[in-house]
Formats: sequence, C-alpha cells, structure tokens
Amino acid sequence: MGHVSWRAGIAFGSMYAGIVGIPERCEYTTLGNAVKYTTLGNAVNFSARLMIKANFGEVLVAESLTSHAKFTFEHKGDFQYKGFSHAVPTHRLMSKKSVYERFHVDIMIGRQAELHNLQAWVQPIYEGKFAGIAYLYGEAGIGKSRLIFEFYRNLENMTWFSCQCDSILKQPLNTFVYTLKRYFNQDNSDSIAERKAKF
Ligand SMILES: Nc1ncnc2c1ncn2[C@@H]1O[C@H](COP(=O)(O)OP(=O)(O)OP(=O)(O)O)[C@@H](O)[C@H]1O
Ligand SMILES: [Mg+2]
Repeated sequence: MGHVSWRAGIAFGSMYAGIVGIPERCEYTTLGNAVKYTTLGNAVNFSARLMIKANFGEVLVAESLTSHAKFTFEHKGDFQYKGFSHAVPTHRLMSKKSVYERFHVDIMIGRQAELHNLQAWVQPIYEGKFAGIAYLYGEAGIGKSRLIFEFYRNLENMTWFSCQCDSILKQPLNTFVYTLKRYFNQDNSDSIAERKAKF
C-alpha cells in the first residue's frame, strides 16, 4: 500500500449486518456475538481491539482463523483486551502459503491417466521444442491445482514458473509480479539495497 500507514485486526464469528430500529429512527449497523461473550467476545469489537494492538503494517488475527488452509500465522503472544476476562492468544498473519506448502502433506489418490497425458504433453520441451498449451478444466474443488502440483514436482531439469491469478488483487500483470517476486525472493520488509542484492 505504498506510503499509506495501515494496520488491521481480523476476528471470526456470526454477526448481523443491517438496519436496526423503527423506520423513523433507524441506523445501519453491524452486531455480533460469537458464542459466549466471556470466551470469544464480540467478533466486531474484538477485531477493532486486535487492530489497535497491531503495529503499523501488521495484521493480527484471532486464534480461530489460524487453521485457515491458505495462509501462515505466527503466535505473537497472549494479550489482555477490554471485555475479556483472560489473556487472549493473538496471531500475526505472515504470508500466503505456496501451492507446495498446501499440497505436500497428504498422499495423492488416482489421476494416473491425467498425469500420463501431461507427461506426454511436456516431452517436446526436452527436445528443445515448444510443447504448446495444456488446458485443464474441471469443477471447483475437483483437484486441478493438486494435479498440476503432482505433475510438476516430478519433472526433472525443468524450471517451472507458476503464475497464479488473485481473486482479490485484480491488477494488470499481477500474476507475473507475484511470480517474479517469489523467484527473486523479494521480501517487502527488506531495504531497497537488500532487495536489489537478491536479484
Ligand atoms: N487426487 C487427489 N488425491 C488426494 N487429494 C486430492 C486429490 N485431488 C485433490 N485433492 C485434495 O482436494 C482438495 C481440493 O483440490 P484442489 O485445490 O486441487 O482443487 P481445484 O480443482 O484446484 O479447486 P479450485 O477450483 O477451487 O481451484 C485439496 O485439499 C487437494 O489436496
Ligand atoms: Mg485450484
């Protein structure tokens, strides 16, 4: 976010967002009580408390969010917040997990035919020729990303660039910026000199 100072807090819980009150005296509001006030507190208020606790440039999250499959977190500490009877575990958002971190954990089942098709498709590259384009299409969650991961992790002598789209950052060339940043190990918290040295 360039020169803008920012910090954020994220909590999780059921809440109500909408109009409260009679038509003459109503307001738009967000109300939420996640389970019991004394244990989890109000998710809306708690996210604001986390935000206040965060350093600038930092995103603090509630413990319930740390099981999220796509991001990594670090325990910052247990802190006392207004409205809580005890110190509450607080975590720092670290990074988005790579496909490798998400998938290398469990065993791959089936998909041998599809893997063989992909292996046959890639062969021309080993002869210095263009292999063309392989297009993989399937329903949401059917295993597309996993299949590609299994395919490229078994490739030998091949540099693989993964250019992922991002459903939130809808910016031109974002897929390549993301990929090149990873390839050159660019970390936003490094100084300009450190970042240049990594190229
Ligand atoms: N053949 C398989 N064996 C074991 N686990 C699998 C297999 N295929 C997919 N999975 C698991 O199923 C989940 C969903 O797979 P994946 O993310 O690859 O789906 P997708 O088609 O890419 O989904 P999306 O459309 O949301 O991108 C993952 O946790 C993945 O590890
Ligand atoms: Mg996918």
